[in-house]
Amino acid sequence: MATLRLGDTAPDFTAVTSEGTLNFYEYLGDSWGILFSHPADFTPVCTTELGTAAKFKDEFDKRNVKMMALSVDGAASHLEWIKDINETQNTEVNFPIVADVERKVSDLYDMIHPNADNTLTVRSVFIIDPDKKIKLTLTYPASTGRNFYELLRVVDSLQLTANHKVATPANWKNGEKVVVSPAIPTEEAKNIFTKGVEEVKPYLRLTPDPTA
Ligand code: BEZ
Repeated sequence: MATLRLGDTAPDFTAVTSEGTLNFYEYLGDSWGILFSHPADFTPVCTTELGTAAKFKDEFDKRNVKMMALSVDGAASHLEWIKDINETQNTEVNFPIVADVERKVSDLYDMIHPNADNTLTVRSVFIIDPDKKIKLTLTYPASTGRNFYELLRVVDSLQLTANHKVATPANWKNGEKVVVSPAIPTEEAKNIFTKGVEEVKPYLRLTPDPTA
């Protein structure tokens, strides 16, 4: 199994999930996707993560992003656990959770890191664009819950930089100034970015968010 890297095609699969058998590509359609694994059902951090993901679904929907979660527990376990998530996190889990009991998808996406845990998936995240290319990978340990605001922020950056010749600086948030792509000379940038270009250094040029 090869490590998946940025720009690689996200492997397709068909798997049993909490919402029946689904084909990943058919599920995604033309949308962006987030595939994320968690170590195990009925564990505390995972319970808060899946509840948080459910509460963020509206925001991901606005950005045309479909979520799919995964652990190596079975579908019956997922369905029982979803009741607990809904009750304790005050939400409704509204995306499928893959029941990867045979670890086929975990192996495909290299989600089991044996030196961390030989049997359970780590907290992997793959953000996938509509062409099924992997645009972001993240790996968190079992003991650290992920930050879903950060996932939204990355989606905003990816979608902005896919359509405009800009990059987003450290701690950037939607609507803030962005960085002009280094490939564009400043004089040309002034024609492209009509809201203005601030040249801090010849290689560091800022411009207002072109979509704001
Ligand atoms: C948790 O979700 O709380 C958890 C899962 C596996 C190991 C440690 C924590």
